Amino acid sequence: MQISDIHVGNRFDYQYIINSFKKAQKFDPDFVVYTGDYVSYEDETQFDQLDAVLKHPVTGSLGTFSVLGNHDYGKSWSEQKVADRIAKQLEDAGVKVLSNEQTEAEGLNFIGLDDYWGLNFDPEVVMKQHDKSKANIVLCHNPDVCDLDIWNNYTGWILSGHTHGGQCKPPFLNPPLLPVKNKKYTQGTIDLEDGRTLYINRAVGHLWQVRFNVRPEITIFELQKA
Ligand SMILES: [Fe+2]
Repeated sequence: MQISDIHVGNRFDYQYIINSFKKAQKFDPDFVVYTGDYVSYEDETQFDQLDAVLKHPVTGSLGTFSVLGNHDYGKSWSEQKVADRIAKQLEDAGVKVLSNEQTEAEGLNFIGLDDYWGLNFDPEVVMKQHDKSKANIVLCHNPDVCDLDIWNNYTGWILSGHTHGGQCKPPFLNPPLLPVKNKKYTQGTIDLEDGRTLYINRAVGHLWQVRFNVRPEITIFELQKA
């Protein structure tokens, strides 16, 4: 199960996230991954709000992993102490945070990249170290990272978020507000045609509570033996 961009803060009622988490946990997922943007950071009140939400974390019976997003780095994506605090809150809730590192759980290898716009984006070493013979999954908040020269012939899935699917999409056209350089990176499954498959989650939270033709989502993937 993938959960992305919950954006807890003052811009919408985060009871909606708690309700969504309770529904999601009922699916009894084996693995849960979170792909960043836990808050819409304004000030320290977001820490208490996030704690209230993380009293009801969705967790996997075999493992629960996460990466940070740009909003988790506070104002101008440049406050390390905000990121540290959010990472600690996640860890305390049983959600392991991966920052340019990998960890294996029950035969699946989770590679988590720190956020591209944040302070600690440093993916080269872990991508050099990854073992192609393993069943790997990369967690990476910002899908633009797919276009950087860091992948060391990685093949497999990359799960990301960040775009919220644009939140508002005119039929047949691209969403007008898309915070990525590569405008193909809107939402859903994208075959990168080099052995990598990108999945962009439309997010369960929002920045502002406006969505049109882009429904919020929590995603369930079914794993198959190769
Ligand atoms: Fe976001």
